[in-house]
Amino acid sequence: MIDKIKALIDEAEAFKAQSKDEVEAFRIKYLGSKGLLREFYGELKNVANDQKKEFGQIINKLKTTAEDKVNTLKAELESTEEVKGIYGDLSRPGEPVQIGARHPISIVKNQIIDIFSRIGFNVSEGPEIEDDWHNFTALNLPEYHPARDMQDTFFIQTNPDILLRTHTSSVQVRYMENNQPPIRTISPGRVYRNEAISARSHCFFHQLEGLYIDKDVSFADLKQTLQHFTSEMFGKSEIRLRPSYFPFTEPSAEIDVYWGLETETDYKITKGTGWLEIGGCGMVDPNVLTNCNIDPTEYSGFAFGVGIDRIAMLLHQIGDIRLLSENDVRFLEQFKSAL
Ligand code: DAH
Repeated sequence: MIDKIKALIDEAEAFKAQSKDEVEAFRIKYLGSKGLLREFYGELKNVANDQKKEFGQIINKLKTTAEDKVNTLKAELESTEEVKGIYGDLSRPGEPVQIGARHPISIVKNQIIDIFSRIGFNVSEGPEIEDDWHNFTALNLPEYHPARDMQDTFFIQTNPDILLRTHTSSVQVRYMENNQPPIRTISPGRVYRNEAISARSHCFFHQLEGLYIDKDVSFADLKQTLQHFTSEMFGKSEIRLRPSYFPFTEPSAEIDVYWGLETETDYKITKGTGWLEIGGCGMVDPNVLTNCNIDPTEYSGFAFGVGIDRIAMLLHQIGDIRLLSENDVRFLEQFKSAL
């Protein structure tokens, strides 16, 4: 009998329950009015006198074990129920979290910043609402200069001196006004032009301006820097600098990258020439340096400007520039990047 009770003590100690019902069934089995303990207390009178003490002690032990078990299990279940009340079922499967994607313009911008920051360029920014001086005059485009027509400008109606910048070259001016050479800076940003919106052009888009001013900077430095950029960005280092005209640089050039003609897409992108134009560049005109309080007899430098949208469209084969500003998530969520 004693062995049987000892086995029941072990069993009670090991008992585990998932629900209140199971705890109640346990309680009834041991402590209920028709339970095991009742039965054992009833047996007590039949036990030989010399064994009564030991028998009494062992059933008391069974009783306290069963009572303790019931109390701790009840407390445990109540506390998990409380947590469930606040958080719901903590073991349920997680809800899928939709991971965002970076905008292709940001991806390309960050890639360009990454390339230039590794060769010592910092990043500078300027305002999108500019004045005439920073967008035009300081860049060697005085009033009535015919080259102003190259860029259709949005003016603020009440004040013709204030406009939406037509290029990021305005940031060059601001940077030179506030910093003396050596200068190595790139300025990404949004620009605006009063143009009809189509698949190929928009009234706002993004550019990245580069500026390098120091002693003895040459056209060869410009070419090498651009070559480094195109090989890092596109894996193509053959470039062509085609003579051109910009008021703020002399000499000036258009930057073409040799893209190749290997595929049907290459044919389309380069219109069968193999060459692709990605921006403009040149040696900063001495007048611009003077306008920005930098002595052109002591310093020289180069500048360049590339279109971020254009590069993004090229790299990701986006056929319509409008997709870049419509913010259709089905389009945007395709772009995942570490940068
Ligand atoms: N600002 C020019 C444009 O928007 C691009 C450009 C050309 C920038 C030549 C430059 C440059 O810095 O040297 O078309």
